[in-house]
Amino acid sequence: MTTPRPETLAKLTPVLTKRWLSPDAWRIGTYEQLDGYAALRKALKAHPDDLIQLIKDSGLRGRGGAGFPTGLKWGFIPQGDGKPHYLVVNADEGEPGTCKDLPLMTHDPHALVEGVIIASYAIRASRAYIYIRGEAVHAARRLRNAVQEAYDKGYLGRNILGSGYDLELVVHSGAGAYICGEETALLDSLEGFRGQPRLRPPFPATHGLYASPTVVNNVGTIASVPPIVLGGADWWKTMGTEKSSGPMIYSLSGRVANPGQYECSMGVTLRELLELAGGMQPGHNLRFWTPGGSSTPLLAAEHLDVPLDFEGVAAAGSILGTTATQIFSDQDCPVYATYRWLEFYHHESCGKCTPCREGNYWMVRVYRRILAGQGTHEDLDTLLDTCDNILGRSFCGLGDGATSSVTSSLKYFKQDYLDYIEGRTAPKLSDKQLVGAH
Ligand SMILES: Cc1cc2nc3c(=O)[nH]c(=O)nc-3n(C[C@H](O)[C@H](O)[C@H](O)COP(=O)(O)O)c2cc1C
Ligand code: SF4
Repeated sequence: MTTPRPETLAKLTPVLTKRWLSPDAWRIGTYEQLDGYAALRKALKAHPDDLIQLIKDSGLRGRGGAGFPTGLKWGFIPQGDGKPHYLVVNADEGEPGTCKDLPLMTHDPHALVEGVIIASYAIRASRAYIYIRGEAVHAARRLRNAVQEAYDKGYLGRNILGSGYDLELVVHSGAGAYICGEETALLDSLEGFRGQPRLRPPFPATHGLYASPTVVNNVGTIASVPPIVLGGADWWKTMGTEKSSGPMIYSLSGRVANPGQYECSMGVTLRELLELAGGMQPGHNLRFWTPGGSSTPLLAAEHLDVPLDFEGVAAAGSILGTTATQIFSDQDCPVYATYRWLEFYHHESCGKCTPCREGNYWMVRVYRRILAGQGTHEDLDTLLDTCDNILGRSFCGLGDGATSSVTSSLKYFKQDYLDYIEGRTAPKLSDKQLVGAH
């Protein structure tokens, strides 16, 4: 196991994770001792428009995957329209490999609660929701306790800290569907309907929850708000790169010595992250990895020095996504890994549109055939053609994301596919698993 050099250790910038290891970090007493709710006191003295401007100035971009500028999103909410406004926190965290929001809510739930109050005040919402993945029972329990503690201390409810501002915060558990992380499907689910994406426009900024102006933001985005209010936009921009400001929680999983969450300045490289995480597991050499979850095109060992910010990863042909770096070695098969992800997309496809519903169904079958040693060269063209008909033609990002590992694994690891087809690699699936593959 490698020990990180001091210059690599300096890449760690614990802001959102700084309280995680404190005793009883999830309790309001600990939170208050460690700067907690100081940002709220400051924010309530400011004009809401000034808070929106502060977030714009900080350059904060959404941590949910798309990297949309947060201040701009808040600024889209029409003011003086007489309608209720809503803040909805997306705590669904369903992207395979992603594990930054659940640990945040488990270890430091008040960071999210405080961010919710400030963000709601800025967009003039008097009701906010946190939509949390149903399976995340432990995190939801911590969050609900934190919300109750915040009510008891006067940070939530009527006339918060004597400011005249009222806010009700509801923690809502979903039933556990990946599509309910897509913001419009989430809104449908929150309204009590089956979670399926809505046609846009109109966008949630004008027609969101209950057809009213709504901001949907990721947990990490909202938890970034209190430190920005306390530290200021210039301080925030001392971390990260020009267009990708601030720290980011990178989740390392797979063949790495010390998997976990590493909060670093945006633009850190995988080489540096691996050094922080003690290197690869003994006997394993890096072969391929996802920069931001399974919906982002695979990268290879040659991309170790790509800056992991929105622009750097895009320039390398992938997407920063949720910064879920899943690490695979020379002992892992990119064809099999892609097949397993496709099984997931096939299972999670909501069925609303044909390219995603049918395309994923068929691609799973083609993969089974290849992995059972019964694939043909033509199958590779079929896969690319199917991806071509899904990407950009699906109703939402789930379909697009499903094609990422298929096209990128064929780009970098075509030989692995040929080895199955031409009999050099032993089949990974048996005939029994081939039902419906032809
Ligand atoms: C299939 C699918 C699943 C998604 N899952 C999540 C999720 O679990 N959490 C999340 O914050 N964003 C998720 N998103 C992105 C949201 O639609 C939305 O962009 C995000 O919540 C906006 O917040 P942000 O601006 O703070 O990033 C998903 C998108 C798609 C297409
Ligand atoms: S792309 Fe897939 S998940 Fe999205 S609407 Fe179409 S079928 Fe549903």
